[in-house]
Amino acid sequence: MAIRNIVTDEEFLRKKCRDVENFDERLWLLLDDMAETMYSANGVGLAAIQVGVLRKVVVIDIEDKNGLIELINPEIIKAEGEQNGNEGCLSFPGQYGEVKRPMHVTVRAQDRYGKFFEISGSELLARAFCHETDHLSGKVFVDLAKGLYRN
Ligand code: NI
Repeated sequence: MAIRNIVTDEEFLRKKCRDVENFDERLWLLLDDMAETMYSANGVGLAAIQVGVLRKVVVIDIEDKNGLIELINPEIIKAEGEQNGNEGCLSFPGQYGEVKRPMHVTVRAQDRYGKFFEISGSELLARAFCHETDHLSGKVFVDLAKGLYRN
């Protein structure tokens, strides 16, 4: 495993990601590296585009009972309610802003072997599902934030 460089180039971050088609060792290495990169940066989520790979791959760990969540080709299939809260992104270091998100979100995705599954989350996990799947279509939180501040 290795820590990869996190992309901060906004132009690159606005590109769209392609579906993963091969569930092979190359994908598993990417997933392992992404998790290590996320943990070393103290993040709760990371999309492959943030390490320069334009594929639909996400890792999330909000330190709840789910532990590390790996999402390949994720799609939000249900979103309910509303929450407002501060959000940040490892690709926008030191920037935070209030973003409105759904309170409950269900995602359908594939695991690292290609098997489909569904996972639901509320509050921070719902926020992470939305933030990370946004990355896969080239959307970044700074566009959704009501106001940005630096910390
Ligand atoms: Ni992000």
